[in-house]
Amino acid sequence: MNSIEVKPVTPNIGAEIIGVDLTESLDHQQIDAIYQALVNHHVIFFRNQNISPGQRIDFARNFGELQGPHRYYPHLEGFENILILQNLPGDPPGTDVWHTDYSWSENPPFAGILWAKSVPEYGGDTLWANMCAAYQALPTELQTYCEKLRVVHDLGDFRNRVVTVDEADTNEQLTEATQNFGSVVHRLVKTHPVSNRKYLYANESFTTHIMNKSSEESNNLLRFLFNHINKPEFQVRFRWEAGSLAMWDNRCTQHYAVADYGQFERTMHRITVLNDHRCTQECH
Ligand code: SIN
Repeated sequence: MNSIEVKPVTPNIGAEIIGVDLTESLDHQQIDAIYQALVNHHVIFFRNQNISPGQRIDFARNFGELQGPHRYYPHLEGFENILILQNLPGDPPGTDVWHTDYSWSENPPFAGILWAKSVPEYGGDTLWANMCAAYQALPTELQTYCEKLRVVHDLGDFRNRVVTVDEADTNEQLTEATQNFGSVVHRLVKTHPVSNRKYLYANESFTTHIMNKSSEESNNLLRFLFNHINKPEFQVRFRWEAGSLAMWDNRCTQHYAVADYGQFERTMHRITVLNDHRCTQECH
Protein backbone atom coordinates (compact mmCIF):
# COMPACT_ATOMS: atom_id res chain seq x y z
CA MET A 1 0.00 0.00 0.00
CA ASN A 2 1.21 3.54 -0.74
CA SER A 3 1.52 5.49 2.48
CA ILE A 4 -0.70 8.54 2.75
CA GLU A 5 0.58 11.74 4.26
CA VAL A 6 -1.94 14.07 5.90
CA LYS A 7 -0.55 17.60 6.11
CA PRO A 8 -2.72 20.05 8.10
CA VAL A 9 -3.15 23.46 6.51
CA THR A 10 -4.42 25.28 9.62
CA PRO A 11 -4.90 24.12 13.23
CA ASN A 12 -8.70 24.23 13.00
CA ILE A 13 -9.54 23.09 9.50
CA GLY A 14 -8.11 21.70 6.28
CA ALA A 15 -5.43 19.15 5.37
CA GLU A 16 -3.64 18.21 2.19
CA ILE A 17 -3.53 14.54 1.35
CA ILE A 18 -0.24 13.61 -0.22
CA GLY A 19 0.85 10.35 -1.81
CA VAL A 20 -2.47 9.29 -3.36
CA ASP A 21 -3.18 8.86 -7.04
CA LEU A 22 -6.96 8.81 -7.39
CA THR A 23 -6.76 7.36 -10.90
CA GLU A 24 -5.75 4.09 -9.25
CA SER A 25 -8.16 2.04 -7.21
CA LEU A 26 -7.64 2.57 -3.49
CA ASP A 27 -7.36 -0.21 -0.94
CA HIS A 28 -9.36 -0.30 2.29
CA GLN A 29 -6.55 1.13 4.39
CA GLN A 30 -6.14 4.10 2.07
CA ILE A 31 -9.88 4.78 2.03
CA ASP A 32 -10.04 4.55 5.82
CA ALA A 33 -7.08 6.92 6.16
CA ILE A 34 -8.77 9.44 3.83
CA TYR A 35 -12.05 9.14 5.75
CA GLN A 36 -10.28 9.63 9.07
CA ALA A 37 -8.47 12.70 7.71
CA LEU A 38 -11.84 14.10 6.60
CA VAL A 39 -13.38 13.61 10.04
CA ASN A 40 -10.33 15.09 11.78
CA HIS A 41 -9.75 18.05 9.45
CA HIS A 42 -13.29 18.66 8.02
CA VAL A 43 -12.02 19.41 4.51
CA ILE A 44 -9.23 17.63 2.66
CA PHE A 45 -7.39 18.60 -0.51
CA PHE A 46 -5.73 16.57 -3.26
CA ARG A 47 -3.59 18.16 -5.97
CA ASN A 48 -2.90 17.09 -9.57
CA GLN A 49 -5.69 14.55 -9.82
CA ASN A 50 -6.46 14.29 -13.51
CA ILE A 51 -9.13 11.70 -13.08
CA SER A 52 -11.96 10.83 -15.40
CA PRO A 53 -15.60 11.40 -14.40
CA GLY A 54 -16.03 7.64 -13.86
CA GLN A 55 -12.99 7.51 -11.57
CA ARG A 56 -14.36 10.43 -9.57
CA ILE A 57 -17.64 8.61 -9.13
CA ASP A 58 -15.79 5.46 -8.03
CA PHE A 59 -13.82 7.51 -5.53
CA ALA A 60 -16.98 9.14 -4.12
CA ARG A 61 -18.81 5.79 -3.86
CA ASN A 62 -16.16 4.59 -1.39
CA PHE A 63 -17.83 6.85 1.16
CA GLY A 64 -21.58 6.62 0.52
CA GLU A 65 -24.40 6.79 -1.96
CA LEU A 66 -24.43 9.63 -4.44
CA GLN A 67 -27.02 12.24 -5.16
CA GLY A 68 -28.79 12.17 -8.52
CA PRO A 69 -29.37 15.11 -10.88
CA HIS A 70 -29.86 18.57 -9.42
CA ARG A 71 -33.11 20.41 -9.99
CA TYR A 72 -31.44 23.66 -11.07
CA TYR A 73 -27.84 22.93 -12.09
CA PRO A 74 -26.84 20.93 -15.19
CA HIS A 75 -24.96 17.65 -14.92
CA LEU A 76 -22.20 16.19 -17.02
CA GLU A 77 -23.57 14.30 -20.00
CA GLY A 78 -23.72 10.62 -19.16
CA PHE A 79 -22.92 11.26 -15.48
CA GLU A 80 -26.01 12.34 -13.62
CA ASN A 81 -24.16 12.39 -10.28
CA ILE A 82 -21.72 15.06 -11.48
CA LEU A 83 -23.09 18.56 -11.32
CA ILE A 84 -21.46 21.33 -13.33
CA LEU A 85 -20.78 24.68 -11.69
CA GLN A 86 -19.61 26.86 -14.53
CA ASN A 87 -19.00 30.56 -14.67
CA LEU A 88 -17.98 32.12 -17.96
CA PRO A 89 -16.41 35.58 -18.24
CA GLY A 90 -19.00 38.19 -17.33
CA ASP A 91 -21.30 35.65 -15.65
CA PRO A 92 -20.80 36.24 -11.94
CA PRO A 93 -21.09 33.25 -9.57
CA GLY A 94 -23.83 33.19 -6.94
CA THR A 95 -22.14 31.07 -4.27
CA ASP A 96 -20.17 33.89 -2.61
CA VAL A 97 -22.11 33.57 0.61
CA TRP A 98 -21.47 31.16 3.48
CA HIS A 99 -23.59 28.06 3.17
CA THR A 100 -23.88 24.39 4.02
CA ASP A 101 -25.13 22.49 1.00
CA TYR A 102 -28.80 21.49 1.25
CA SER A 103 -29.15 22.62 4.88
CA TRP A 104 -32.75 23.39 3.93
CA SER A 105 -33.46 19.66 3.67
CA GLU A 106 -34.39 17.29 6.45
CA ASN A 107 -31.35 15.07 5.96
CA PRO A 108 -28.61 17.22 4.46
CA PRO A 109 -25.90 15.22 2.69
CA PHE A 110 -22.78 13.96 4.40
CA ALA A 111 -20.10 15.27 2.03
CA GLY A 112 -19.28 17.29 -1.04
CA ILE A 113 -16.52 16.61 -3.55
CA LEU A 114 -15.43 19.39 -5.85
CA TRP A 115 -12.98 18.88 -8.72
CA ALA A 116 -11.50 21.77 -10.66
CA LYS A 117 -11.75 21.39 -14.43
CA SER A 118 -10.80 24.89 -15.41
CA VAL A 119 -9.81 27.66 -13.02
CA PRO A 120 -8.97 31.36 -13.25
CA GLU A 121 -5.31 32.34 -13.54
CA TYR A 122 -5.83 33.97 -10.16
CA GLY A 123 -8.86 34.38 -7.89
CA GLY A 124 -11.79 32.00 -7.56
CA ASP A 125 -10.61 30.47 -4.26
CA THR A 126 -12.99 28.62 -1.95
CA LEU A 127 -13.12 29.02 1.82
CA TRP A 128 -14.40 26.47 4.33
CA ALA A 129 -15.22 27.15 7.97
CA ASN A 130 -15.27 24.70 10.86
CA MET A 131 -18.48 24.99 12.84
CA CYS A 132 -17.16 22.85 15.73
CA ALA A 133 -14.45 25.45 16.34
CA ALA A 134 -17.01 28.25 16.02
CA TYR A 135 -19.24 26.61 18.65
CA GLN A 136 -16.26 25.90 20.92
CA ALA A 137 -15.23 29.57 20.87
CA LEU A 138 -18.60 30.84 22.15
CA PRO A 139 -18.88 31.81 25.82
CA THR A 140 -20.23 28.89 27.88
CA GLU A 141 -23.51 30.66 28.71
CA LEU A 142 -24.16 31.33 25.03
CA GLN A 143 -23.33 27.72 24.14
CA THR A 144 -25.92 26.58 26.69
CA TYR A 145 -28.47 29.09 25.41
CA CYS A 146 -27.92 28.07 21.76
CA GLU A 147 -28.26 24.38 22.59
CA LYS A 148 -31.91 24.93 23.46
CA LEU A 149 -32.74 26.67 20.19
CA ARG A 150 -34.03 25.42 16.87
CA VAL A 151 -33.69 27.24 13.57
CA VAL A 152 -35.57 27.34 10.27
CA HIS A 153 -33.61 26.67 7.08
CA ASP A 154 -35.27 27.27 3.72
CA LEU A 155 -34.35 28.15 0.13
CA GLY A 156 -32.92 31.45 1.38
CA ASP A 157 -30.62 33.00 -1.22
CA PHE A 158 -31.79 30.51 -3.83
CA ARG A 159 -34.77 32.85 -4.26
CA ASN A 160 -32.46 34.96 -6.40
CA ARG A 161 -31.70 32.06 -8.68
CA VAL A 162 -35.07 30.39 -9.10
CA VAL A 163 -37.15 33.47 -9.73
CA THR A 164 -36.76 35.47 -12.91
CA VAL A 165 -36.97 39.10 -11.92
CA ASP A 166 -39.69 41.23 -13.55
CA GLU A 167 -41.48 38.30 -15.16
CA ALA A 168 -45.25 38.17 -14.88
CA ASP A 169 -45.11 34.70 -13.31
CA THR A 170 -42.74 35.68 -10.48
CA ASN A 171 -45.23 34.70 -7.80
CA GLU A 172 -45.82 31.28 -9.32
CA GLN A 173 -42.07 30.70 -9.64
CA LEU A 174 -41.51 31.63 -6.03
CA THR A 175 -44.36 29.45 -4.80
CA GLU A 176 -43.14 26.49 -6.83
CA ALA A 177 -39.54 26.90 -5.63
CA THR A 178 -40.67 27.25 -2.03
CA GLN A 179 -42.61 24.00 -2.36
CA ASN A 180 -39.74 22.23 -4.10
CA PHE A 181 -37.16 23.22 -1.54
CA GLY A 182 -39.42 23.08 1.50
CA SER A 183 -38.30 24.41 4.83
CA VAL A 184 -37.08 22.51 7.85
CA VAL A 185 -36.29 23.07 11.48
CA HIS A 186 -32.86 21.96 12.71
CA ARG A 187 -31.26 22.21 16.11
CA LEU A 188 -28.98 25.24 16.26
CA VAL A 189 -26.35 23.08 17.95
CA LYS A 190 -25.85 19.56 16.61
CA THR A 191 -23.50 16.76 17.61
CA HIS A 192 -21.24 15.21 15.02
CA PRO A 193 -22.08 11.48 14.83
CA VAL A 194 -18.45 10.35 14.47
CA SER A 195 -16.32 12.84 16.40
CA ASN A 196 -19.06 13.61 18.95
CA ARG A 197 -18.07 17.26 18.77
CA LYS A 198 -20.81 19.88 18.98
CA TYR A 199 -21.18 22.37 16.16
CA LEU A 200 -23.28 25.37 15.16
CA TYR A 201 -25.82 24.70 12.45
CA ALA A 202 -26.82 28.08 11.01
CA ASN A 203 -25.64 29.63 7.78
CA GLU A 204 -26.16 33.02 6.25
CA SER A 205 -27.56 31.66 3.01
CA PHE A 206 -30.31 29.36 4.23
CA THR A 207 -31.02 29.96 7.95
CA THR A 208 -33.85 32.41 8.19
CA HIS A 209 -35.36 32.34 11.68
CA ILE A 210 -34.90 31.12 15.24
CA MET A 211 -38.03 29.30 16.34
CA ASN A 212 -40.12 30.83 19.11
CA LYS A 213 -38.31 34.14 18.94
CA SER A 214 -39.58 37.43 17.61
CA SER A 215 -38.05 38.54 14.31
CA GLU A 216 -36.03 41.14 16.18
CA GLU A 217 -34.55 38.66 18.67
CA SER A 218 -34.00 36.08 15.96
CA ASN A 219 -32.31 38.54 13.59
CA ASN A 220 -30.06 39.89 16.35
CA LEU A 221 -28.79 36.50 17.44
CA LEU A 222 -28.41 35.18 13.89
CA ARG A 223 -26.47 38.31 12.90
CA PHE A 224 -24.21 37.86 15.92
CA LEU A 225 -23.60 34.21 15.03
CA PHE A 226 -22.95 34.91 11.34
CA ASN A 227 -20.35 37.51 12.32
CA HIS A 228 -18.82 35.11 14.84
CA ILE A 229 -18.67 32.26 12.32
CA ASN A 230 -16.91 34.52 9.86
CA LYS A 231 -13.68 34.69 11.91
CA PRO A 232 -10.59 33.74 9.87
CA GLU A 233 -9.39 31.51 12.73
CA PHE A 234 -12.15 29.02 11.90
CA GLN A 235 -11.41 29.04 8.17
CA VAL A 236 -9.16 27.68 5.49
CA ARG A 237 -8.83 29.20 2.02
CA PHE A 238 -7.96 26.94 -0.90
CA ARG A 239 -6.19 28.10 -4.07
CA TRP A 240 -7.37 25.87 -6.88
CA GLU A 241 -5.36 24.47 -9.76
CA ALA A 242 -6.87 22.45 -12.59
CA GLY A 243 -7.05 18.87 -11.27
CA SER A 244 -7.35 19.87 -7.60
CA LEU A 245 -9.99 18.00 -5.66
CA ALA A 246 -11.53 19.01 -2.33
CA MET A 247 -13.77 16.86 -0.18
CA TRP A 248 -15.59 18.35 2.80
CA ASP A 249 -17.67 17.07 5.67
CA ASN A 250 -20.90 18.90 4.90
CA ARG A 251 -22.28 18.19 8.37
CA CYS A 252 -20.04 20.52 10.34
CA THR A 253 -18.69 22.97 7.77
CA GLN A 254 -19.80 25.87 5.64
CA HIS A 255 -18.13 27.09 2.48
CA TYR A 256 -17.87 30.27 0.45
CA ALA A 257 -16.78 30.57 -3.20
CA VAL A 258 -14.99 33.88 -3.72
CA ALA A 259 -16.51 35.80 -6.65
CA ASP A 260 -13.47 37.82 -7.71
CA TYR A 261 -12.68 36.42 -11.17
CA GLY A 262 -15.12 38.21 -13.46
CA GLN A 263 -12.91 38.08 -16.56
CA PHE A 264 -12.02 34.38 -16.27
CA GLU A 265 -13.82 31.10 -16.77
CA ARG A 266 -14.15 28.78 -13.79
CA THR A 267 -15.63 25.31 -14.23
CA MET A 268 -16.01 22.94 -11.31
CA HIS A 269 -17.61 19.51 -11.08
CA ARG A 270 -19.37 18.60 -7.85
CA ILE A 271 -20.42 15.22 -6.51
CA THR A 272 -22.60 15.06 -3.41
CA VAL A 273 -22.33 12.05 -1.11
CA LEU A 274 -25.66 11.54 0.58
CA ASN A 275 -24.87 9.30 3.51
CA ASP A 276 -21.82 8.24 5.47
CA HIS A 277 -21.37 4.49 4.94
CA ARG A 278 -19.17 4.15 7.97
CA CYS A 279 -21.55 5.81 10.36
CA THR A 280 -24.95 4.47 11.31
CA GLN A 281 -25.99 7.47 13.39
CA GLU A 282 -27.59 10.70 12.20
CA CYS A 283 -26.37 14.07 13.42
CA HIS A 284 -28.49 15.03 16.41
C1 SIN B 1 -20.34 25.13 -3.82
O1 SIN B 1 -20.87 26.05 -3.21
O2 SIN B 1 -20.67 23.96 -3.63
C2 SIN B 1 -19.28 25.44 -4.84
C3 SIN B 1 -18.08 26.05 -4.25
C4 SIN B 1 -17.13 26.53 -5.30
O3 SIN B 1 -17.51 26.64 -6.48
O4 SIN B 1 -15.99 26.82 -4.96
